[in-house]
Amino acid sequence: MSGKNDSGTDGAPPAWYQAGLAHVWLPYAQMKRALPPLPVARTKGCRIVLADGRELIDGIASWWTACHGYNHPHIGAAVERQLALMPHVMFGGLAHEPALTLARRLVARLPGDLDRVFFSESGSVAVEVAMKMAVQFWLNRGVRTRKKFLAFSGGYHGDTTGAMAICDPAAGMHAPFRGLLPEHHVVDLPQDEESAAAFVRVLERHAEELAGIVVEPLVQGAGGMRFYDAGVLHTLRAAADRFDLLLIFDEIFTGFGRTGTLFACEAAGVVPDIVTLSKALTGGTLPLAATVASRKVFDAFWSDDPMHALMHGPTFMANALACAAANASLDLFEREPRLRQVADIAAALERGLAPCRGLAGVKDVRVKGAIGVVELERIDDIERLRARFVEEGVFVRPFGSIVYLTPAFTIAEDELARLTGAVVRVATALPR
Ligand SMILES: Cc1ncc(COP(=O)(O)O)c(C=O)c1O
Repeated sequence: MSGKNDSGTDGAPPAWYQAGLAHVWLPYAQMKRALPPLPVARTKGCRIVLADGRELIDGIASWWTACHGYNHPHIGAAVERQLALMPHVMFGGLAHEPALTLARRLVARLPGDLDRVFFSESGSVAVEVAMKMAVQFWLNRGVRTRKKFLAFSGGYHGDTTGAMAICDPAAGMHAPFRGLLPEHHVVDLPQDEESAAAFVRVLERHAEELAGIVVEPLVQGAGGMRFYDAGVLHTLRAAADRFDLLLIFDEIFTGFGRTGTLFACEAAGVVPDIVTLSKALTGGTLPLAATVASRKVFDAFWSDDPMHALMHGPTFMANALACAAANASLDLFEREPRLRQVADIAAALERGLAPCRGLAGVKDVRVKGAIGVVELERIDDIERLRARFVEEGVFVRPFGSIVYLTPAFTIAEDELARLTGAVVRVATALPR
């Protein structure tokens, strides 16, 4: 690449990059060894434009948030309108149209009687709120013993302390904290006779100390992009009913179409007691999350006793700009054929990634909705692998032994073909 670029210089990173890089702490990075991040000038559609003018096709959609592509004009216009009216107002003692409209629209799309929305600003906090709701659900009924959760190996629910404690304690990224976090019960998903028996054994022994079961429905995302059948969710629902536990679905990754239906719980036909949402809620435009409770959960807080109130209220909860973006994102799900696009992406991912099957070093190739996964035997040099994708003109960010694609649902056929082509080329050239 030569000539003037987005940084206004020739070749060198922009001045803001050089001056600021030494002062930021990057996510999930060994700062001593990680390759420096790529300076981004702007985004458009499914492309990330770098400061030096290169355009990368985005295979990740900014951690699965930008489901309509970047800079969608409908979301942009809604945010601009809201900015002129009121960017933010505290949600304590005050209410505003974007938040109340969003709450009404979310509960209309969710199944069963999930009908009370508590807003927050990140997925991890939505999970914390769900856990706090579940423990207090029991406290408000006079039960003080039910303060733990049953969660699953391979699971990931966030990086705050409570959420970390229900992630996979051994294989997950928070393993160094093992033994230091509040202890919960983590078992394998009940997918076969042996795991189902172990699951029931834990419930028989420990149900009295459990507030609920927490699970990512259908897909365990950041823990390894593992897919599992809807039947497991029926097993969980039946167990939660039998042992009188709350069932919490963490749909922060799966929500808003990623697995092929608007919510994963729809495909499974299982209604949880609490559901968490975030990520694609605003179409990737602004941070926002929601913890949605069923009537049964909400009713346990409905009381004349002030101690029975949910004492939670993030400063920026229900931010008006973010709620306006989320309403605009829901408009797009209603007006545009997003779920058909997801089905088309699934078929294209199947076709495009198929050549990886059987390659030396490739353990598994799997697709669910707009999620394509090539699981490798191992990745020795993850930074090098990430850099290889940039050389291919795409942004793909492998983790663990997983190379995955979670593109925007609006991605063009040729862009998706370039993504899958890059994955196939990189997988074919893996060191043996
Ligand atoms: C299923 C799930 N839950 C919770 C989180 C945490 O969300 P956040 O990063 O917004 O805190 C994530 C993030 O990847 C997630 O995939």
